[in-house]
Amino acid sequence: MVGYHVAIAGATGAVGAEFLQLLETRDFPLASLKLLASERSVGKKIRFKNQDLTVEELKEDSFKGVDIAFFSAGGSRSRQFGPIAAEAGAVVIDNSSAFRMDPEVPLIVPEVNPDDAVTHHGIIANPNCSTIILLMALAPLHRRWPVRRVVVSTYQAVSGAGASGIVELEKQNRAHLAGESIVREVFPHQIANNLFSHNTAIDDSGYNEEERKMVKETRKILHEPNLAVTATCIRVPIARAHSESVNLEFADQRPTVAEATEALAAFPGVIVIDDRERNIFPMPLDASGRDEVFVGRIREDISHPNALDMFLSGDQILKGAALNGFQIAQLLIDRNAVKGAR
Ligand SMILES: NC(=O)c1ccc[n+]([C@@H]2O[C@H](COP(=O)([O-])OP(=O)(O)OC[C@H]3O[C@@H](n4cnc5c(N)ncnc54)[C@H](OP(=O)(O)O)[C@@H]3O)[C@@H](O)[C@H]2O)c1
Repeated sequence: MVGYHVAIAGATGAVGAEFLQLLETRDFPLASLKLLASERSVGKKIRFKNQDLTVEELKEDSFKGVDIAFFSAGGSRSRQFGPIAAEAGAVVIDNSSAFRMDPEVPLIVPEVNPDDAVTHHGIIANPNCSTIILLMALAPLHRRWPVRRVVVSTYQAVSGAGASGIVELEKQNRAHLAGESIVREVFPHQIANNLFSHNTAIDDSGYNEEERKMVKETRKILHEPNLAVTATCIRVPIARAHSESVNLEFADQRPTVAEATEALAAFPGVIVIDDRERNIFPMPLDASGRDEVFVGRIREDISHPNALDMFLSGDQILKGAALNGFQIAQLLIDRNAVKGAR
């Protein structure tokens, strides 16, 4: 069997930890694993398959002999080291936004546009986490009943900002309950007992960067450059798993609730949770640690004859990041599209 030499750039982070977990627990032809992070983490030991692996510093010469490089160390590291890794013969699967809108770089959700992946030139981008979760519910409907307009509002977990986001929420929760003063280090506002507009830059249009990513990336993945998409992205005091309220307007007649439910339930990676009698619908707590995106509250929009509403929850560190990247690697292996495999 062919084995692949793998590196994780950002191995000590929230997404990196999930890559390690996936490589340890899922079926993957691994020949060797290299863990890379900043100089702060050099020498740190991470347990992997009953061995202690030592973290090395991410450097220009880190990628010699590497076949697959998972990057989750932030956009500037991807911009600096991604092309170097690709040049060294690795296929880079990048979790940052550095290359997502580059026309030469495929932007992949394996269930949605797998064929785009094989056209890579050494770098493949993992979409934004909220975008992946949206696409998992949008794509199966759009395929059968073309969508004209998407209106999405997000409820995004603090771990979307990395491991330090979870620590901030926990510390603030404790301080809030104890009546102590709240310290802000990661987020611009108190997150415990609060929510706020996503902490990315707002441009002249009034949209923040996260919202603009959802618009542009959705169009690129679906190959629909004119699809109307509007997004409102909100950070909520949840540790893990993003949720989204989605309104879809269809170009022609909307599917019935039963038809939409059937199409969603049949789509790999989606679980429909829509128990109206018992009021059980997607929740981030249930979606945490799960591969699948949960979809529910599927209903006809009473304000529009061709629109449907639904509500989603998905683990943004898994399907929104590491799992999607891992699936891209599996897809490339299946299609014999890992450059430099030995
Ligand atoms: N969290 C999510 O839900 C999510 C979802 C989708 C995409 N992403 C993207 O994935 C990437 C990582 O996110 P994360 O949530 O895992 O963040 P994180 O928990 O803050 O981890 C960041 C990782 O990057 C490493 N790093 C930071 N500066 C570095 C440098 N100068 N050189 C080498 N390594 C460096 C860190 O190493 P040290 O420990 O040594 O500092 C750590 O391993 C980001 O680009 C993020 O946008 C995250």
